[in-house]
Amino acid sequence: MKAVVFDRFGDPREVLTVRDIPMPAEPQSGEVRVRMRMSPINPSDLMMVRGVYGRLPTLPATPGFEGVGVIESVGGGWLAKLRGLRVGRRVAVLNGTSGNWAEHVVLSARNVVPVPDDLPDEQVAAFFVNPATALVLTQRVLHIGRGGWLLQSAAGSALGQMIIRLGKHLGFHTINVVRRKELASELTQLGADAVLSSVDDDIPARVAEITGGAMVPYAIDCVGGAGVCELVKSLAPQGRLLLYGTLSGEPISLEPRSLMSAQRVIEGFWLSEWVKNQGVLRMLGLFRQIITLMRAGILTTPVAATYTLDQLSQAIEHVEKSARGGKILLKLV
Ligand SMILES: NC(=O)c1ccc[n+]([C@@H]2O[C@H](COP(=O)([O-])OP(=O)(O)OC[C@H]3O[C@@H](n4cnc5c(N)ncnc54)[C@H](OP(=O)(O)O)[C@@H]3O)[C@@H](O)[C@H]2O)c1
Repeated sequence: MKAVVFDRFGDPREVLTVRDIPMPAEPQSGEVRVRMRMSPINPSDLMMVRGVYGRLPTLPATPGFEGVGVIESVGGGWLAKLRGLRVGRRVAVLNGTSGNWAEHVVLSARNVVPVPDDLPDEQVAAFFVNPATALVLTQRVLHIGRGGWLLQSAAGSALGQMIIRLGKHLGFHTINVVRRKELASELTQLGADAVLSSVDDDIPARVAEITGGAMVPYAIDCVGGAGVCELVKSLAPQGRLLLYGTLSGEPISLEPRSLMSAQRVIEGFWLSEWVKNQGVLRMLGLFRQIITLMRAGILTTPVAATYTLDQLSQAIEHVEKSARGGKILLKLV
């Protein structure tokens, strides 16, 4: 079968290759084999290829943490039965160890989610990483209630847009920082209460204006670097800033007193770690909630382009571009 493979960590443009590799072994009890259809190229996939991710695979390895496919073989076991996993079922494939950029994968029945027919492949391909993060981060970690205020950076990202729609749906307000201010009208249409420019705006001053001086109880950041200080200064006393990404690759330099005097808190969030502490039933509940919100158009992903495996280098070139306007998907059939 064909798969994307890398033998060393480095620039994805240099280290990723498409190869013929042996088919995976038959699934054992508790496992299924899936014929993959499509998988997104997420920031986490490329960070892993670069060797700067939280958990790294043994090389050679295949990237791809999520995707959509069709079950082609079931190894048996109670979980497969309980979840109705049978040959021909279309499933979202959550590959915790990565490896979805291949024609076939074998993995635990725990890691596939049967999905309704009305959800298109393009949406199911990006079923978990961003939708689960949007929900878990705002509702299960920060517990932002109706009427609450959230400040977020990189708000034009697929995840940022989901959080804006989720805020509108659940009744919390979002103040959204972007590096390209031309995104303002698009994000406002999605339900953003305010859109600020990281280039032109004084973020704490604008947040004070918007909140009538109250500032925000919650902020989230996936960029890093100098902008994080602006988010900290925008927090209300005892406000919480959650760090969940490293898009700029830059470290944070912080004046300690900006935390001390108002007893503000900075925390980290990583979905993989959160998932480790959840039981099967809680995960099934989360999958159901994602399906409902995806069907309602809230946890949906904008797609910029789809490429075949033969076009891998064009796909990688495209994903590295600024202002790409949506996810890049790899077609695996
Ligand atoms: N911790 C977790 O468990 C977890 C889970 C899911 C996602 N994440 C993180 O969430 C973030 C967003 O993911 P995504 O899939 O939604 O991303 P995405 O759709 O690929 O979008 C990336 C966005 O980031 C912006 N961006 C890129 N580099 C930037 C920089 N240096 N400064 C400011 N903005 C920058 C881009 O802006 P332009 O439009 O201007 O190019 C684009 O809007 C990533 O950091 C990802 O790793 C973390």
